[in-house]
Amino acid sequence: ISSVNEASSAHFVHKTAIIIDVLRATSSIITALATGSSGVVPVETVMDARAAQKDGDLLCGERFCKKIPGFDLGNSPDEFLMNSVKDRRVILTTTNGTRAIHKSTRADYVLVAALLNASACAKAAIDLRRDVVILCAGSHDEFAIEDGLCAGLLLAKMQATCTSELTMDDFGLAMLSLYQNRSNEIKETIRSGATGKRLVKLGMGRDIDICAEVDAYSQVPRLQTNGDMLICSCY
Ligand code: MLT
Repeated sequence: ISSVNEASSAHFVHKTAIIIDVLRATSSIITALATGSSGVVPVETVMDARAAQKDGDLLCGERFCKKIPGFDLGNSPDEFLMNSVKDRRVILTTTNGTRAIHKSTRADYVLVAALLNASACAKAAIDLRRDVVILCAGSHDEFAIEDGLCAGLLLAKMQATCTSELTMDDFGLAMLSLYQNRSNEIKETIRSGATGKRLVKLGMGRDIDICAEVDAYSQVPRLQTNGDMLICSCY
């Protein structure tokens, strides 16, 4: 397991990368694809987002957790549930999550995970038969407890699925025991973290309830290259 500030792109070579940003980028990507979006294009800057937009695309993203002025939607899974994204491409820029995805492009496979698709993602990672690097996007280069909790859940699921013994680093062991200790208090744990508190303060507490749901979806977004563009889609 790595945090975004310590992961160099060399970390990912010949591996499967799993990117986690429970609050809220990866939860939003999963929700958008599960509700019918034709693909999510993660970009790093507002300028890149505007440049990538084609007719029919939705421009989405946040800065300081708030919708970017002039964009169609913010970075809220609730918004993706309330507004139809069916058959539309979502161009998404967020402060930490989309940046973490861009860091991992040297991996053989890049999967997008959150609590929402944990079991399906753990199974997909095992099926891909590579060593796995879990990248916790965190917040502003700092570790976020909700991402650690999700990493621990993925490890628990991988352990249960894997026929041979799973070996993990010490950070992995710590996150596994975090999950084992807090598996009955997922919402409370998320609300106690810095990003959870920030979202509650901004009146976005409903997003926490949505993002805290374990295994709501079976879709596992995978990153693909399309010309010079990256796109997350499910197949
Ligand atoms: C991010 O990528 O920085 C986050 O998803 C922030 C947010 O909660 O919108």
